[in-house]
Amino acid sequence: MTTAIIGTGGIGSVIARQLASGGETLRLSSADPASARTLAAQIGPAAVVADGNRDAVQGAGAVVLALRFTVLKGVIDEIAGPLAGKLVVVPSNPLSTDAHGNVFRVLPEGQSSGKVVAGWLPAGARLAMAFGTMSADLFRSSGHRSPEPAVLFYATDDDRAGEEIERLIRTAGFEPVKAGGLEQSGRLEVGGDLHDLVVSPAQARSLIGAA
Ligand SMILES: NC(=O)c1ccc[n+]([C@@H]2O[C@H](COP(=O)([O-])OP(=O)(O)OC[C@H]3O[C@@H](n4cnc5c(N)ncnc54)[C@H](OP(=O)(O)O)[C@@H]3O)[C@@H](O)[C@H]2O)c1
Repeated sequence: MTTAIIGTGGIGSVIARQLASGGETLRLSSADPASARTLAAQIGPAAVVADGNRDAVQGAGAVVLALRFTVLKGVIDEIAGPLAGKLVVVPSNPLSTDAHGNVFRVLPEGQSSGKVVAGWLPAGARLAMAFGTMSADLFRSSGHRSPEPAVLFYATDDDRAGEEIERLIRTAGFEPVKAGGLEQSGRLEVGGDLHDLVVSPAQARSLIGAA
């Protein structure tokens, strides 16, 4: 199946490689097309470079928006038409950096980033917050673990999105575990209790239940 990945930076490039390693075909786009071209050349025939963000979405069943939180809304507005009917996967943390390099949360404490992003999507798009629950390095090194796969947590309010993101998570070499609905997305973010964990499915389920 085909997934579009918009944003081929730190996390988007790793998501692309992990999905391609499991047999997914990819349509890539980025602000600088050279970045998407370089990644596509490294991945090989499974990845093609699209002619911009809107073109990336055409023909893809799912779209990963591997973008900084502060540019998400602008890109969603740009591609809103073609997003209807698709799974939208968002790994973004609601963070930004001030002039002194200090990282801060761009949403009020306790406000769910998943709920905010859901409000930006057009009717008919199905959202899952996923693939941002680990640093890019940990994500790269934890895929296809044996004998037991490592877990990737996700959050969604939509049952069909849940089935679709579970397929993508398995394709990337992990076992999916639902943390809850979109109101739980804070648990997956930097600073959340489920962020940057490499755990087995049994450990994951006990962590979910313990909350
Ligand atoms: N890196 C990690 O370890 C990690 C782990 C988990 C979650 N996350 C989260 O994932 C999000 C992305 O992080 P990142 O580290 O991947 O950031 P990044 O390295 O800055 O990559 C962002 C990508 O977005 C692209 N982009 C910017 N504006 C765009 C536009 N209008 N259209 C298309 N592409 C656009 C950039 O393109 P150009 O490069 O061409 O400018 C770049 O490829 C953040 O919210 C972060 O918190 C990151």
